[in-house]
Formats: sequence, structure tokens, C-alpha cells
Amino acid sequence: MLWSVLQQPDLREFQDLPEVDRPQFRRMVAARPRNLVPGSWGRFEWLLQLTDTDEPAGWASLRIAERSTTTGEIGYSVVREYRGRGFASEALRAIVDEAFSNLDMRKVRAYCVPDNAPSRRVLANAGFEEDGVLPHGATVRGKPVDVLGFVLERVRWIQREAV
Ligand SMILES: CC(C)(COP(=O)(O)OP(=O)(O)OC[C@H]1O[C@@H](n2cnc3c(N)ncnc32)[C@H](O)[C@@H]1OP(=O)(O)O)[C@@H](O)C(=O)NCCC(=O)NCCS
Repeated sequence: MLWSVLQQPDLREFQDLPEVDRPQFRRMVAARPRNLVPGSWGRFEWLLQLTDTDEPAGWASLRIAERSTTTGEIGYSVVREYRGRGFASEALRAIVDEAFSNLDMRKVRAYCVPDNAPSRRVLANAGFEEDGVLPHGATVRGKPVDVLGFVLERVRWIQREAV
């Protein structure tokens, strides 16, 4: 299901997605870690599904580097017909809550290209703050592009939760 979502249109405008066939994708996913607990590392990914029909609407991910398991990098995408309904915001919130409540993380990061206004809005709404440009931080349609970095520190998340 995740692989078929990856083939949907309009997902590659602002991000680099793997150009792999279904068997290759299956192998990539099978190699991923399964248990998300404090100290876990690797790429964790969730399919976003409609609650009533189970139809796939997108995905969200959390990438944790082995050298720093107290920081996670979040990503998300929603297929065209389901955008603007708060799905990315809901997924982001769920992962952020998990990172700070159960995974002992100190900060959560995200990156997006400057032109990606909806993604910037999703991050700003969740309390993420811009913290600089990463030159050639991503490849979009085969070309290196600069990306904006965003961070949500645990302390800021706690303050926002308390309001
Ligand atoms: C970015 C993306 C994930 C957002 O998903 P979504 O489910 O539509 O997001 P939400 O509905 O939770 O929130 C979208 C927000 O952007 C706002 N928005 C939408 N289009 C906008 C635009 N052109 N300019 C400014 N804000 C915009 C919406 O009003 C909403 O903000 P609000 O809640 O304050 O009203 C989706 O557009 C997408 O998948 N894009 C292609 C892939 C991608 O860019 N992934 C992210 C890579 S960093």
C-alpha cells in the first residue's frame, strides 16, 4: 500500500523519493527496524489511512541517526485529493508527541524547500522554528536544492503543551 501511495502524482515537486520498483521497495521496508523505543535508530514510517475506509492518504516518517538517538527527523506527504484536511498536521502532532512523551528525545527536526508553503505552515502551526538553510540539502527532480531547517525543542514543546 505504501508503495502505491509513493506512485501518486504531485509528491515529487518538493522532495526526493526513491525511484525503485515494488520488489526493491519491499526489500527496503523489510530491512527497517520494527520496534520504536528509546534508543532505537533507523527510519520508521507510517501509512496514513482514512479511519472510515482505510484508504491510504499519505505517509509520515521519523528518521533517527544511530549516533544521536535523542534527535529525530520528521517527514510527511499527503496525496493530492486529501490535502487541506489537516492530515499532515495530525500525523506530525502524533509523531512529535511520541518523540517527546515516550522516546526521550530532546529535539525533532524537519526540512523543506523554501517554496513549500503548505509544509512550512504545517511546521509553524506545530511550533517548529526555522533554524537556517542547509545548502544543497536535498535533491528534487535530480537537482540539488537548498532546504530550510526547522526544529522543535523538547522545552518549547512542554511549554506549548502547558498552555
Ligand atoms: C505539505 C503537505 C504534506 C501538507 O499536507 P496537508 O494534509 O494538506 O496539510 P494540513 O491540511 O495539515 O495543513 C496545510 C496547511 O497549509 C496551508 N496551506 C495550504 N496551501 C497553502 C499555500 N499555498 N500557502 C500557504 N499555506 C497553505 C493550509 O491552510 C493549512 O494551514 P492551516 O491549518 O493553518 O489552515 C502536502 O501538501 C503534500 O504532501 N505536499 C507534497 C509533498 C510534500 O511537500 N511533502 C513535505 C515535504 S517537506
